[in-house]
Amino acid sequence: MVKTIGVLTSGGDAPGMNAAVRAVARTCMNKGIDCYGVMLGYKGLHEGNFYKFNKSSTRNIINVGGTILKSARYPEFKDVKIREEAIEQMKTVGMEALVVVGGDGSYHGALELTKMGINCIGLPGTIDNDIPDTDYTIGFDTCLNTIVEALDRLRDTSMSHQRCTILEVMGRSCGDLAVNASIACGAEAVITAETGFDEEKLIALLKKSKASDKQHAIVVITEHVTDVNELAKRIEAATGFETRANVLGHLQRGGRPTARDRILASRMGIKAVELLEAGYGGLCICEQGGLIVSEPIIDLFEHRRRVPEYLYSDVDKLR
Ligand code: ADP
Ligand code: F6P
Repeated sequence: MVKTIGVLTSGGDAPGMNAAVRAVARTCMNKGIDCYGVMLGYKGLHEGNFYKFNKSSTRNIINVGGTILKSARYPEFKDVKIREEAIEQMKTVGMEALVVVGGDGSYHGALELTKMGINCIGLPGTIDNDIPDTDYTIGFDTCLNTIVEALDRLRDTSMSHQRCTILEVMGRSCGDLAVNASIACGAEAVITAETGFDEEKLIALLKKSKASDKQHAIVVITEHVTDVNELAKRIEAATGFETRANVLGHLQRGGRPTARDRILASRMGIKAVELLEAGYGGLCICEQGGLIVSEPIIDLFEHRRRVPEYLYSDVDKLR
């Protein structure tokens, strides 16, 4: 029977991570299991930067963005020697198992630790929604709503000046944020790494819009596809549409988590502790059709999440 569990947040922070930490800590304490927060992700695990939760220390965090445990990227953790030293640090406080809230990189760390005898459960904490087999990741909904708010504001000025407005959003190589925001905000076009970037097609589409009675256009694009400022110049030259580019950046990672993210994080946190208590490790938590389930982390690495085709065609149908 597990007596002490740790919890850490790792990789890019995501709204709702605090709700997950709270759920893990409270579920543990309610079961009589000691719970430690590990500061600064795997870096803090290696350095023994631990904090023991008590009943009051998880108060007033469910509604707060970011992560009270702080997050870090710590590539050194790929080194087996560093992981062995981290396990030694865990032993100093009797920490036998760990909940890791992060993206797929963090899941690799969790799997490696499990192979070394420390049961770990992964929770999908990332705005990108790029984790396979879960309908949603913790933070995605809040981020999507932030992008929608930004696009609504951009629409006001785009319409007033009869411009083409480009908004670059995050997502790494996953198009989920871009395509869902495009549907929610009635974008003219969405461009992601998944669809590939056909500039001629985009220009033709914008020329057609300009020739119609539509007087402005919104284009949403995932980061790392192309330089949006250069793209704006080319669109303006080719279509006559005055064009402005915006990069939303880290603004989209912050803010109060939505109810959806708080609920998802809370349900997933409870499930993680229940699995560790039952002696499981090397699993990650997924939401599938409203149910909170688990599956081996190793299975996730065999495929990539792809945004369903029908979402892209919905953008076209609503143009
Ligand atoms: P995310 O978890 O959001 O995908 P990263 O890819 O930056 O973010 O990964 C977060 C952290 O997970 C890394 O900084 C590192 O500490 C750890 N990590 C990533 N890959 C591995 C690996 N192969 N083995 C052990 N730890 C890893
Ligand atoms: O994975 C979350 C994410 O916000 C991505 O969308 C983005 O590409 C990346 O992290 C940004 O990372 P950093 O915080 O290191 O700039």
